[in-house]
Amino acid sequence: MKLLGQQIADILTQQPVDSSVVVQGWLRTRRDTGACSFLELNDGSCLKSLQVVVDEGIENYVSTIKKLTTGCSLRVHGILVTSPAKGQTVELQASEVEVLGWAEPATYPLQKKRHSLEFLRSIAHLRPRTNALGAVTRVRSVLSHAVHRFFQEQGFIQVHTPIITTSDCEGAGEMFTVTSLEPSVFSGNDPFGQDFFGRRAGLTVSGQLQAEIFAQSHGRVYTFGPTFRAENSNTSRHLAEFWMLEPEMAFCDLTGDMQVAEAMIKFLVSAALDECGDDLGLFDQHVSRGLIDRLTQVRDQPFVPMTYTEAVDTLLQSGQSFEYPLHWGSDLQAEHERFLCEQVAKAPVIVTNYPSEIKPFYMRLDDGGNTVAAMDILVAGIGELVGGSQREERYDVLAGRMQASGLNLEEYGWYLDLRRYGSVPHAGFGLGFERLVQFVTGMQNIRDVIAFPRTPGSAPC
Ligand code: 4AD
Ligand code: MG
Repeated sequence: MKLLGQQIADILTQQPVDSSVVVQGWLRTRRDTGACSFLELNDGSCLKSLQVVVDEGIENYVSTIKKLTTGCSLRVHGILVTSPAKGQTVELQASEVEVLGWAEPATYPLQKKRHSLEFLRSIAHLRPRTNALGAVTRVRSVLSHAVHRFFQEQGFIQVHTPIITTSDCEGAGEMFTVTSLEPSVFSGNDPFGQDFFGRRAGLTVSGQLQAEIFAQSHGRVYTFGPTFRAENSNTSRHLAEFWMLEPEMAFCDLTGDMQVAEAMIKFLVSAALDECGDDLGLFDQHVSRGLIDRLTQVRDQPFVPMTYTEAVDTLLQSGQSFEYPLHWGSDLQAEHERFLCEQVAKAPVIVTNYPSEIKPFYMRLDDGGNTVAAMDILVAGIGELVGGSQREERYDVLAGRMQASGLNLEEYGWYLDLRRYGSVPHAGFGLGFERLVQFVTGMQNIRDVIAFPRTPGSAPC
């Protein structure tokens, strides 16, 4: 049952010709010929617009139709007929056109010409009406739905982890503080003692630690929500507020973790290929040539595993000069990550067993002691898409790692408790959802795949 009437996406695919319909949307363009006007109406339900033909004989032709400009919102009643024009099978022969809202032509910023993505960022409230941002929004929605489908079909249980937390999962000190105090009140040794939670709280940098709690009661869980990092990285791949998808699996090791992550990425790419054909076609044509072929390969070909040590050796022997010099023990930069995918493997790469020094306390220490059971999935054009690991399930090893990282063991007593009472091997990962949307759409800048990007110095609406 359609609760809110017909949308252009339905009409273009399902509606039989010569039936009467009512559509509502925003005017993209108006073109007049001798005896009629052609209106291009878009309602955001799909990339295509519906061509509306208005005969000069209709009642308000001169008073209204001739004054319509880009951006006006309309309700059109009419008959759907076979279109003689190229590129469309049907068009709407209007019998009545109602203007729901005029759009002042002198100031409406969206015109028929192509606008730069930089300019569109300055009008976050209107850019969803453009082809590019409209398509990103639909692809994002399809991917989000597919995330839930994948995990629910695999028997995972969704857990809503908190946005406000007192634990810094990544230990990187990138938490935004949450306070109800006025800045002038902060003083003394324990400024947060008088605060809302009686201790320092912040916006979550990851739902992982809480997801681990539920993995150790429900086996397979996932959390999917906003995540915040006060890192001052003004790059095309970093946001201060982004969405992260984090599954956590009990009775699972690093190999199982890698298998789930690869299967999930393939499932998500496949969903986009199946359900977003027109939108991906737009990106393929205007944003990233060859996108659909590359996504099809990602769906169909195995990812390439390599250890961190193998990755560093490969990079050092490549003869390629990098901006950031590399040695065993240094973190891989985006340029290294991209080189591995784009030049070496020509496929997504799963790098495993990173040095323990450059990874957080919760990752399981490998035998030998200087690497951890970590895995990052790297993809072309972006670099790191997924970061995950097997977790340290041994109480003593974990406590030692936490101490070495400078964590207050009392504050994390609950996390250690999980290793005292029925501890099990477990693993999980985090996928940066905007990076996935970038990967699937080919959009260069992460600010263009989230509706309201938050970056250092910028949170306009
Ligand atoms: O590698 P990260 O920091 O891993 C974690 O947070 C783990 N606790 C996840 C887990 O094991 N449950 O972040 C995971 C992913 C990265 O691979 C990247 O895709 C994305 O989150 N990410 C960001 N995306 C946009 N902006 C940022 N500032 C990001 N930081 C990380
Ligand atoms: Mg990472």
